[in-house]
This record gives sequence, C-alpha cells and structure tokens, in this order.
Amino acid sequence: MKKERQVAFRAALEAGALIRERVGQISSIDYKSAFNMVTDVDKASEEIILKILQNEFPGDDFVAEEGGGNVNGSSRRWLIDPVDGTTNFAHGYPFFCVSIGLEENGEMVLGVIYEPVRDEMFYAIKGNGAFLNDQKIQVSKVDTLTNSLLVTGFPPDTVTSAFDNMAQFNRFTNLSQGVRRDGSAALDLAYIACGRLDGYWEKKLAPWDVAAGSLIVEEAGGKVSDFTGAPLSVEEGIIIASNGLIHDEIIKVLAELKEKVRSS
Ligand code: IPD
Ligand code: CA
Ligand code: CA
Repeated sequence: MKKERQVAFRAALEAGALIRERVGQISSIDYKSAFNMVTDVDKASEEIILKILQNEFPGDDFVAEEGGGNVNGSSRRWLIDPVDGTTNFAHGYPFFCVSIGLEENGEMVLGVIYEPVRDEMFYAIKGNGAFLNDQKIQVSKVDTLTNSLLVTGFPPDTVTSAFDNMAQFNRFTNLSQGVRRDGSAALDLAYIACGRLDGYWEKKLAPWDVAAGSLIVEEAGGKVSDFTGAPLSVEEGIIIASNGLIHDEIIKVLAELKEKVRSS
C-alpha cells in the first residue's frame, strides 16, 4: 500500500495546487440541478487525479464524481471526489478538499483527504492508524452529547428532497454545544478523525463523499455506521461517524425522531 499512498498523495497535491490557485477564478459553472453546481475546476482536478492514478494502476477500477472513471470489474476500486465542497469553493469559502479512497474486495484499505488551503493531508491505511501531515491523529475523548461539537450536511437538492434534515438539525442543536454545517462531507470526516469535531450524521451521500473519510475515522479510533448502527455501505451513503463515545447517543436521537415522524 506504500506505492498506492505515495501516488494518491501526488495526485491529491497536484489537484490541490490547482484548486488553491483557482479560488475566486472559476471560468465556468454548470448546474447538475438548480442547487448542485460543478465548475471547470472540478473537472480539471478530476482529470489530474485520474491521469496520475490510471497511469500507475491501469488494471484498477476508477469511480470519479464527474464521470471520468472506468470500471472493468477489478477487485480494486478507487473512489474519487475531485472537489468535495464545490459550493464552498465556488463562493471562495475556504472549506473544501480532494478525497481519494481505495477499496479492495469491498473493503476500504486507503483513504487520502487533502485540504489545500491549510495544506493539510489526512490519510489512513487499513490497520496502520490515521495521520495528519505525518502526525498520528486520534478522535476526541468527549463522552457526552451535551459536551460535543457536531456536524451535519444537507443534500444539494434539499428543497426537493424527501429527506428533510431540519428536525434533526434542530434537535441536535438543543442537545449539544452546537451543530456545524460546513459543506464538505469528506472534510467533516477528517475533522472527526483529528478530534476537531465529535460527531457527524448525514444522508444521501455518494460513495466518493465517504470512502476515504470513513477509513480515516476508523483508523483514528472512531466509529462509523449507518443510522441504525449497522456497518456503513458507501453505496447507500447514510452515515454516522463519531469518536465512538457518543455514537449510541446519536443513534438514539435519530431513532426517536424517526419514530416521531412515523407516528405523526
Ligand atoms: C457535497 C458535500 C456536502 C454534502 C453534499 C455533497 P460536493 O459534495 O460533501 O457536504 O452535504 O451532499 O454532495 O458536491 O461538494 O462534491
Ligand atoms: Ca462530494
Ligand atoms: Ca465533488
């Protein structure tokens, strides 16, 4: 996995340099739907990453958000988000990253998340711990929801989506120190891993949003699951990630709210 890590670093750093250079200098924005934007930088970043990875690992599968990948049925699959936090990036709000995950036989084995503004490289290799710029990282030790700082996200099609996260957002805001909505799922996970945040929940995510970050959280000693506590499926994209200590409390609150909606 050493070579994979080095190549993923090279791809993330090169794409990150472009992203950093282009903050506030986007040449085109397209809209996948009314609120779901994609810039020329998303596409250029994806091209850089794919070129580097595909050149080194031509037999692997590649799934990338902007559609540039190729899938041949390999046991190894790279999951790539060339800019996670595009809305932030397009507005010059400095919270976005590159996310590159490698899955082998359905299991995440490598996760690399690069945040170009602060020059922070988060990564993990299965079984080897999690790191931020080569320093080992660990999740926080906050052990109650009351003392925790949480984060969540809303799908780009929130207005039309059947999933309304507002009730959950309200409830957790009343039960914790606060709930952030930072706009980059991958970076939210990286922040859980290094203890800047304690708990995270979100629904309607894509595999490339959670692939790298879920491994980094687990390798930092945290816990990742779906809303019921069952193992995360990157395809389903329903996630709770936490320091482990407040995980059950988050599951309980989400279950209570679901029950309330059902019986109302
Ligand atoms: C989005 C971000 C955001 C999450 C959205 C994602 P993008 O990814 O991760 O935090 O709430 O659901 O779509 O579009 O910026 O790559
Ligand atoms: Ca994303
Ligand atoms: Ca993206």
